[in-house]
Amino acid sequence: MKNPEIEKRIKDLLGRMTLEEKAGQLHQAGGSIVGAFDLSFEEILTMVADGRMTEEEAHKMISTAKRDWHEDDLRAGRIGSYLGLVGSEEMNRMQHIAVEETRLGIPLINGFDVIHGFRTIAPIPLAESCAWEPDLWQRTARMAAEEATAAGIQMTFSPMVDVSKDPRWGRIAESAGEDALLNGLYGEAKVRGYQTDDLTRHDALAACVKHFAAYGAAEGGRDYNRVDMSPQRFEEEYLPSYERAVKAGARAVMPAFNDLNGVPCSVNKKLLTDILRGRWGFDGMTISDANAIAECINHGIAADRREAACLALNAGMDMDMTSGCFLDHVKELVEAGEISMEKLDEAVSDILRLKFELGLFDDPYRSDAEQEKAAMLTPAHLALAREAAQKSMVLLKNDGLLPLKEGARIGLAGALASDGDEMSGTWAGAVQPGDCRSIRDGLDEEKISYAMVTEEPLPDCDVFLCAIGERKAESGEAASRASLELTDADIALLKRLKESGKPVAAVVFAGRPLCLGPAAEYADAILMAWHPGTEAGPAILDLLFGRVNPSAKLTASFPAATGQCPTLYYDHIRTGRPAGKFKYTSKYLDAPVEPLFPFGFGLSYTGYRYSDITAAQTEGGIHAEITVQNTGDRPGSEIVQCYFRDPAARRVRPVRKLAAFEKADLQPGESKRIAFDIPETALGYYDQDMNFVIDDGLIEIHIGGNARDTLQADVRFIREK
Ligand code: GLC
Repeated sequence: MKNPEIEKRIKDLLGRMTLEEKAGQLHQAGGSIVGAFDLSFEEILTMVADGRMTEEEAHKMISTAKRDWHEDDLRAGRIGSYLGLVGSEEMNRMQHIAVEETRLGIPLINGFDVIHGFRTIAPIPLAESCAWEPDLWQRTARMAAEEATAAGIQMTFSPMVDVSKDPRWGRIAESAGEDALLNGLYGEAKVRGYQTDDLTRHDALAACVKHFAAYGAAEGGRDYNRVDMSPQRFEEEYLPSYERAVKAGARAVMPAFNDLNGVPCSVNKKLLTDILRGRWGFDGMTISDANAIAECINHGIAADRREAACLALNAGMDMDMTSGCFLDHVKELVEAGEISMEKLDEAVSDILRLKFELGLFDDPYRSDAEQEKAAMLTPAHLALAREAAQKSMVLLKNDGLLPLKEGARIGLAGALASDGDEMSGTWAGAVQPGDCRSIRDGLDEEKISYAMVTEEPLPDCDVFLCAIGERKAESGEAASRASLELTDADIALLKRLKESGKPVAAVVFAGRPLCLGPAAEYADAILMAWHPGTEAGPAILDLLFGRVNPSAKLTASFPAATGQCPTLYYDHIRTGRPAGKFKYTSKYLDAPVEPLFPFGFGLSYTGYRYSDITAAQTEGGIHAEITVQNTGDRPGSEIVQCYFRDPAARRVRPVRKLAAFEKADLQPGESKRIAFDIPETALGYYDQDMNFVIDDGLIEIHIGGNARDTLQADVRFIREK
């Protein structure tokens, strides 16, 4: 619902703006790197790629170089927003120029990638999604907003809710995994945590839902690659997560780099106008991805930057992130009648609206150096980061080795065991060296004795902790992998430790599912730690020593072999010849079809028994129940998952579809009756003619602790005529 007072102020301001000033509001500028050297950002990355510079040298160079924020352009009304300007004092200085030194005093809005924390880093989104806990997701978003806004930021390019079914894609790290419902709930919680219900609060952070849409379906898992799918699959599996996040009140949306069925999202009117605004009623701001408008030339859609600008603005794009196409060409396009003044005013209004909603016109200076310092890495934030890490790490194997006994003599192996900076994971742009603590840091803090494993003969110990997996630079954007196998060095290390005859606990750091077969072969226990953030070390020890009982469950399937991608996701279809012993069925000659660890899987130090499943049709849907008992001797939290299957429909339907879940806290021996209500709309799908249909007939309900091991109850579902 638009605020009439704001709309009135927008209209008044528009009436006083020149064409140049309107074009300026559409432009988000980045900070050029100057002074320290005369290399461009792209040249630096190329030097890293061809080995002329290490990543560390590049990071130091980029992070210490003075930035040019193009102050004269700002004074001339040619900049409406910044990307990546961090620091309250620097932001106040630039805001002062915008507010006090431009003709109309329109304030800036400053955006940054606050993806899983700002200084206090929570686990990467794929990890945190394994908590299956919207309340936690919302609390860590609030923590991120408190720190980021104190540092002069008013908008985050988050939540990312791209359903990611192919772990070869590096950006699966930024998602809530392969399921539409979980990505939607994750996005909704993040939007609420960032924005609160009062955007004028100094610690409210505008959320930007991305990447719209279906970026996670890039062909081959290769970043920026084409996305081509049926409209049915798009509507059923990929669109819902964006819709839920937008309807949670997000005030910005970022189109994706990819094309969707041949039309780049940045110039896709069906997406940016028909669906986003027409169907969903979104009245916030759209902002392109970095340079994405100009890249429509590479896509082969625009002949030049002028045409790219025309296509994007007419499709429903409001703000141009750093390409400069709008700034350079909008004036002439309006004068030539290729963009109407009405269309331009719509885009400018969307941007002004967000600035008014944030209160920036009346209250532009939101923080200062003292407030900024006080907001970072507080005890409460560190405790929350530790809780999130404890709830995100998944116990994949435990042959009785864990929990470790206090006092156990530890042999610590693997470079990642001692490298705290690798624990932040991808997209942790504000983190400082030393902020994140490794396993070794945790052992030192707790004064637990350990011996490092080196090339020398193995140390005498009771148990080996072996850190393996990915560095943070191997995950995230532009980090697709053609192989998900562990490195030869990691496999050799695991084997060497195994041959010692001492038990081995593997701790896997990664931003994606990996092929953990060798770890399953050589290790007695496997903890999937992901990139767990600031409190990595302490949280890992909390879990390994059993001070906290693992509860996390996978939100992405773990492949047995890379070649299973991209078909190993849990909500696959059955085919006419489901995999079986008979030769002529849908399978591989050289790999299993089942994942090594299925969606929803995760172990605990206790056990759970499921019994007495029931399901029946009720008014408007299906009601299902099950009894879950804690069969062990310690309290635990079990993520009970409710799936359904439509075994005879008008299009082939998934073998399982997550409909609901509940995290049940259970004392030793305690039983609870868990109930789920599935609305009939959740059973619906699109037929061949794109009609949304809900069938009468048999519906299978499957409930359990993961997508594979479930109890089943059937319902004959007959809709009221
Ligand atoms: C990047 C990413 C996007 C991010 C933006 C600004 O290329 O695709 O997710 O928000 O640029 O850093």
